[in-house]
Amino acid sequence: MKVLHLAAEIYPWIKTGGLADVTGALPQALREAGAEVRLLLPGFPAIAAALEQQRTLASFGPAFGAGEVRLLLGSLGQDGVSVVMIDAPWLYRRDGGPYENARGAPWPDNLQRFGLLSWVAAHLAAGEFDPRWQADVVHAHDWHAGLACAYMAAHPGRSASTVFTIHNLAYQGLFGNDEFATLGLPERYLQPDALEFHGRFSCLKAGLVFADRITTVSPTYAREIATPEFGCGMQGLIQQRAAVVSGILNGVDPAVWSPGHDALLAAPYSAADGAGKALCKRALQAELGLEADAQAPLFGLVSRLTPQKGVDLVLAALPAALAQGAQFVLQGSGDAALEAACAAAAREHPGRVATRIGYDETLAHWLIAGADAVLVPSRFEPCGLTQLYGLRYGTLPLVRRVGGLADTVVDASPQAVAEGRATGFVFDAATPEALAGALQRAITAWREPVLWQALMRRAMAQDFSWAEAARRYLDLYRDLREERATS
Ligand code: ADP
Ligand code: GLC
Repeated sequence: MKVLHLAAEIYPWIKTGGLADVTGALPQALREAGAEVRLLLPGFPAIAAALEQQRTLASFGPAFGAGEVRLLLGSLGQDGVSVVMIDAPWLYRRDGGPYENARGAPWPDNLQRFGLLSWVAAHLAAGEFDPRWQADVVHAHDWHAGLACAYMAAHPGRSASTVFTIHNLAYQGLFGNDEFATLGLPERYLQPDALEFHGRFSCLKAGLVFADRITTVSPTYAREIATPEFGCGMQGLIQQRAAVVSGILNGVDPAVWSPGHDALLAAPYSAADGAGKALCKRALQAELGLEADAQAPLFGLVSRLTPQKGVDLVLAALPAALAQGAQFVLQGSGDAALEAACAAAAREHPGRVATRIGYDETLAHWLIAGADAVLVPSRFEPCGLTQLYGLRYGTLPLVRRVGGLADTVVDASPQAVAEGRATGFVFDAATPEALAGALQRAITAWREPVLWQALMRRAMAQDFSWAEAARRYLDLYRDLREERATS
């Protein structure tokens, strides 16, 4: 089974969120499950610097505004996963993020940048750049790769099936119709039954319309996106395609997130020997200027700061929890107003609330290990990874009952506690009051060490593995291959 994945992020080289964690782990897990995986990536500076190049597959150009384009086959050191990097310096070699410049403005040539990524995928899959390698399946991630499904549909030599994975339906890759011609796609694709979306066109919609299978990253989110509340205007289309939509939960990469051998931590620990966790908490409190108080329940949040993540709910619920002796660590970056509000909370409550604005991988590990509970009060959450990391680290997740959060955390209700199933705290309404109620329950549980220890043990015994996710994706790929063979 030959599978070509394409994506705009990959941990640890280029990351804005969980998509990078997925593309950093899933290809390897698929390979271990028996697939032959190639990963197609834009030649961003960090990837170009890390690529161990084996050979040049092709060079051509000009294309998509790039003078010359070279396709380089190599690896990023992951066992058995080949990388094809698109070397197009004019489009990709610049400082800043994958989608935005350092000031947070989208790159003006994003359509060319991700159009090229998608176009190359379709032609690479057909064996045009490397006659020795043709894909059975092209697997595109999020809007940046959505156009690949349109190019595949339009490609006369198409032999591969397509899978489109929605990591976040809210980012739709919208562009003005005047830019459509630069893509070289059939004009009819600019119709409402294809890419057109409210007077513009959407690269995400290309994936939703043309992919043979649509997946998203949890079963609950797969159901939610068929409703107006979560569908971001795409719910009608999702309903139409319901027969090919499914949810496959993300996993955790144990090489990156395991408390027993996490080199970033002040002290490693395990379910059997939790002494290190107390050291991690003390180190986190000292590092961030929080009072060195082992008895204070410490709540942590590590997140992009966008309305999706419900950080405003945390800020509103904070005073009541502080009054009961809690501490908070807020780490993230994003919306300027949310950044400022988080910073203000720390100034208002010195020694009890610490805020770190910015992206910091080491601090994220310190927080997940050192906090007692991790907050994920999202308005919507396709999967969510920090609650999974929290479970592994015995840092109980406190989450809203949406998307992947609902699928991965069992609320400490009296019944679930009695049955030994509880792993965290779950609340329903996206209101400060509902979150405050969950914080209250968590603080009460924290004051009962026997109960808290039992919850921790249960949490740490959870296994959200990439092997399981890879098995499901592979089943999907096999179904597609069979369909193709019999059609
Ligand atoms: P999303 O993809 O919507 O941002 P996820 O929970 O799936 O949410 O993934 C977020 C990932 O990004 C996690 O690996 C988390 O640890 C990481 N992360 C988020 N913000 C930061 C930050 N400021 N510093 C370091 N890591 C961060
Ligand atoms: C998205 C979602 C998040 C998910 C991640 C990886 O960014 O917001 O819920 O975990 O993708 O699939």
